Amino acid sequence: MARKKIALIGAGNIGGTLAHLAALKGLGDIVLFDVVEGVPQGKALDLSQCGPVEGFDAKITGSNDYADIAGADVIIVTAGVARKPGMSRDDLLGINLKVMKAVGEGIKANAPDAFVICITNPLDAMVWALREFSGLPHNKVVGMAGVLDSARFATFLAWEFGVSVKDVNAFVLGGHGDTMVPVTSYTTVSGIPVDDLVKMGKSSKEKIDAIVARTRSGGGEIVGLLKTGSAYYAPATSAIAMAEAYLGDQKRILPAAVHVDGKYGLDGLYVGVPVMIGAGGAEEVIEIALDDEAKQNFQVSVDAVKELLVACRGIDPSLA
Ligand code: APR
Repeated sequence: MARKKIALIGAGNIGGTLAHLAALKGLGDIVLFDVVEGVPQGKALDLSQCGPVEGFDAKITGSNDYADIAGADVIIVTAGVARKPGMSRDDLLGINLKVMKAVGEGIKANAPDAFVICITNPLDAMVWALREFSGLPHNKVVGMAGVLDSARFATFLAWEFGVSVKDVNAFVLGGHGDTMVPVTSYTTVSGIPVDDLVKMGKSSKEKIDAIVARTRSGGGEIVGLLKTGSAYYAPATSAIAMAEAYLGDQKRILPAAVHVDGKYGLDGLYVGVPVMIGAGGAEEVIEIALDDEAKQNFQVSVDAVKELLVACRGIDPSLA
């Protein structure tokens, strides 16, 4: 059987880490694409030279030509810029929308059968725009945010309870940003809901509330420390888990930004919900019962995503 092909659009910090992980995990041959000349080629050469040490034969190439992503099975998009000091949200939206347009058209022309995972921020708006520009079916274009947000939540909870991260199953809904909704009633340690652990005296409501707040601003905390960039190891790992779920038809239930039409009272909006990922892409949105507080918080998150889409349509009328 021919090796699978993984195309990474954007060869920056996350793109390079994605390529490293995909090679180590033997997901397939890898193409790193970027608009900057030399960077994808240089990273590809460096990564290829890991092969003899790690024992992988994946072909890793760098390119500035969309023709080289032809036939990709999975495409992970990190192209774009991160918000810099002094840049308004609309400035960022305007820049990354243009990038999504170029990327969407490149995918449409060269790899229309791929499963596409978008990471570029602001995530919920960019994944929607990328789907619009690429014209791919909704189930084949998803956004990576929930796996990362849940991983952040799980990390902090494991530290708080003094347990293995393997036993923490964290649940996060909504948009990627300040309005994300970590749901403690569905978050468990070996099946025991966090709310019950609080009742058992293993932690306090105040401490869990602080962890929820820290999870919500998890990306910002890292930007504050790095100063010149944003998180990339955990975002890359999270997207690779989604790619593996698709390539291996694993039917994993993962939180992801997917097109929700008819569930959660939504009529065609990209937002973070639990979804089954398998060979069909985003195969089924799982609708869970939410208590009043989670429902209210989810609505705030949905409204924030809708507001972003209005701004996108204002910037690029072709999206109207
Ligand atoms: N096409 C392809 N690549 C592009 C384009 C474009 N039109 N515009 C910019 N790029 C490339 C840049 O040249 C750079 O190599 O995208 C890459 C982005 O890499 P980094 O700046 O290192 O950013 P990274 O940390 O990888 O994050 C990428 O993911 O989490 C989000 O907010 C983050 O939107 C950002 C994205």
